[in-house]
Amino acid sequence: MIDWEKIRSDFPITKNIIYFQSAAMSPLPIPVFNAIQREYRKLLRQGDIHWMNDMEKFRRQCADLAELIHTAGENITFVPNTSSAMSIMAASFKNHIQKPFNIVSMEDEFPASTLGYEYQGVDMRYVQPVEARYPIESILKMTDRNTLAVVTSHVQYATGFRQDLKALGQELKKRRILFIVNATQSFPFFPIDVRAMNIDALTASVHKWGFTGHIGTMFYTSPSFRRKYPPAWAGWMSVMSGEEDFIHTAKNAPFRLHDSAERYILGTFNLQPLLAFQASVDYLKAIGFQNIRNRIMELTDYLINGLNKLKVKIISPVARKKERSAIISFSLGAKNRLCIKTLAKNKISVGERAGNIRASLNIFNNFEDIDRLLEVVKNFC
Ligand SMILES: Cc1ncc(COP(=O)(O)O)c(C=O)c1O
Repeated sequence: MIDWEKIRSDFPITKNIIYFQSAAMSPLPIPVFNAIQREYRKLLRQGDIHWMNDMEKFRRQCADLAELIHTAGENITFVPNTSSAMSIMAASFKNHIQKPFNIVSMEDEFPASTLGYEYQGVDMRYVQPVEARYPIESILKMTDRNTLAVVTSHVQYATGFRQDLKALGQELKKRRILFIVNATQSFPFFPIDVRAMNIDALTASVHKWGFTGHIGTMFYTSPSFRRKYPPAWAGWMSVMSGEEDFIHTAKNAPFRLHDSAERYILGTFNLQPLLAFQASVDYLKAIGFQNIRNRIMELTDYLINGLNKLKVKIISPVARKKERSAIISFSLGAKNRLCIKTLAKNKISVGERAGNIRASLNIFNNFEDIDRLLEVVKNFC
């Protein structure tokens, strides 16, 4: 049995406010805060002397994360954000593909998934949702002979709809269409198996469900994707060096990009907080991802029942458990803004997305938090 109240006590935020905004950014638990301090204390006291070791530690951390999504460590690195990862891919497609092509994506996507492609002039085609869902048939119907890729979120940020990546990936593989996934709103809570799901590239900005703040985006690419679509730019950390020096200093001398995902790291990056992210992964692993999912379902069930009792319109598609996530959006029509303001006055934090009220539930929330939310919502019904 997991002691959820003990876990709640690891999150000081629970003493200040009732927080339903993890889909914007999750707060820190104390062990992660301590790990961040440890990393910066090293810098405070010893400066740069650990850099090489820290890079090795970072690679081991990538290997550990890679296991979570069923791939090898060399296929994973971090880039600043999902927007950068998508732009890296968009620029590469533009450079390497001569014939006309299009990309199919979802109308409800967070713009980090799509703007980079639009900016490169890619012909983007958007699937319209059906009651906030994206049936696989609707996505496939939008594809044609010129479709290069489907870009989709695993969990939609505004509605919490969770796509069946395995079923979609299987269909795309049959059609030889690349599968690019934004797992920002699902990783690491919901399982991802890049092999079984036939995913070619995946991003996950871990400030949402990774409990370490704005540290960057985990960026997975398959080896064949990297070979076919090399990045449009290079930096000293993305190229191989000779035996004699770890830096390629020669000018006008040939060089090669790393075969691994490290080709996407151009130069130095925010290594200290990224190393602290391991503390978060260890913390979540100790609880167990299945236990976390069960808890999220238990809490969201409770919220859904409460909203149903009040006859509040639920925007998230909640009929099928396998399509649900930690995000529940609902609407009080024209009263949404006032309700959000009133909740804030009562120290209850929810978000407004796509004009609806978005509550995201996390492992530090409890049933009383939800009761408090429902008490305020009741006054608007
Ligand atoms: C699905 C999704 N992707 C990405 C982001 C963030 O994008 P980026 O990592 O480019 O800041 C968000 C929210 O901020 C999101 O909800």
